[in-house]
Amino acid sequence: MSRNEIIVSTEEMERQQTFAEMVRALPHRPKSYHVVTYGCQMNAHDSEKIAGMLESMGMASAPQREEADFVIFNTCCVRENAERRALGNVTWLKEVRKQKPELLIAVCGCMIQEPGMADRILKQYKFIDLAFGTANLHKLPEMMYELLNGGNRVVRVEEKDVIPEGLPVRRLRHDAAYVTIMYGCDNFCSYCIVPYVRGRERSRDPEEIIREAEGLLESGVKEIMLLGQNVNSYGKGLPGDVSFAKLLKRLDDTGIPRIRFMTSHPKDLCDELIDVMASGKHILPQFHLPVQSGNDEILRLMNRHYTRGQYLDRVRKLREAIPGIGLSTDIIVGFPGETEAQFEDTMSLVDEVRYDSAFTFIYSARTGTRAAEMPGRIPEEEATERIKRLIDLQESLQQDTMKRFVGTEEEILVEGLSRRSEQAVSGKGKHGISISVAGSEKDIGTILKCRVTGLKNNTLMGVREA
Ligand code: 5AD
Ligand code: SF4
Repeated sequence: MSRNEIIVSTEEMERQQTFAEMVRALPHRPKSYHVVTYGCQMNAHDSEKIAGMLESMGMASAPQREEADFVIFNTCCVRENAERRALGNVTWLKEVRKQKPELLIAVCGCMIQEPGMADRILKQYKFIDLAFGTANLHKLPEMMYELLNGGNRVVRVEEKDVIPEGLPVRRLRHDAAYVTIMYGCDNFCSYCIVPYVRGRERSRDPEEIIREAEGLLESGVKEIMLLGQNVNSYGKGLPGDVSFAKLLKRLDDTGIPRIRFMTSHPKDLCDELIDVMASGKHILPQFHLPVQSGNDEILRLMNRHYTRGQYLDRVRKLREAIPGIGLSTDIIVGFPGETEAQFEDTMSLVDEVRYDSAFTFIYSARTGTRAAEMPGRIPEEEATERIKRLIDLQESLQQDTMKRFVGTEEEILVEGLSRRSEQAVSGKGKHGISISVAGSEKDIGTILKCRVTGLKNNTLMGVREA
């Protein structure tokens, strides 16, 4: 597909704005909405776009789903339990409609892009009024108009890989913002459904990204989180000398106080990026580097294209260039055929690396992926026992790892009041770890300098510095 076909045209985006105005003018349209989000940051940001579009249609956000006239579930299908949870909640809402017949129910996101799901919704979930895939997101105004004006259910799933620019966004936070830099994924890790539901990798124009970042800085945003399934391969297929490292350097020069990004693939983590991070002024010293497994044979079966040794080399390089860097990871246990000895390799890798945090998952077979066809399915009890051991190990190491911050100076972007005390606030330090300091509501959204004084129940405690 050519670049012109990927970027949704300005005319199409204007057409959608016209539909939004037409919906706004309908007398019987819903007055309030509520978005329920499952899954990753990408989905959270898509929900902000959905909210932005619904507000452009004249709807107001309702804090609780029971209070809304229109409830939209933005789903995830990376693991089976996320999918089950979403479908359970959607079905529960069907009961709410018995008391509130005007309630409209929509389902969107990755789950809808799964092969066969649109048919299932049409036949099995007849109470769903509107369903659409990730590729149809920007056409929400048109779909809403069709639903409200025609009165029929609308189910739309397209295969096209698009980049819609200029969608209205209702951001959840005023001080920190997501910025998508690329969509889709071409890696086809054997367990993962993302390439099938989010389509081929495509990168946004760097000028669009810089413009968005400058606009955010102007509106008072202090931190941006760059999003992509594999940000390290940003720029593939774009004209000119474009790379993630170069984009990051340009964003650093805009003066945005804090820049973070996720997710990175270890095979694409190049020295140029490490150098830009090390010399940057605003790029936070933190890195999310999913390892998935510590065993070479499992990594090969996962189609990850790196070995344990190569991964450890990247970690060493990051730590040399950026001392004290915050490291986090994703790990899957119970991949088909994983032996006890192979699992022990993952345990020893975790012991060796000393992550600041690890997201651990039990392997979940996804129809259509290569791993779903592999022999040696690990029984549930065994996988559960392994993940418990892994979590215990990570927790026992984390205490020790976090102690390196005690006595150091940090800067936190205050997210909210601390859960433990009304006289304290908490926010993430530069290394991505939460720190609690004395403060009040008025500190929310500001950057505070502090000194870390200790560790209490796995939370860093600090005192303010002038
Ligand atoms: N089963 C379990 N975990 C998975 N992930 C992706 N696909 C699966 C699956 N089928 C995990 C990976 C990835 C994270 C976002 O979700 O660890 O990095
Ligand atoms: Fe899935 Fe692998 Fe792509 Fe990440 S890099 S989204 S795990 S296929």
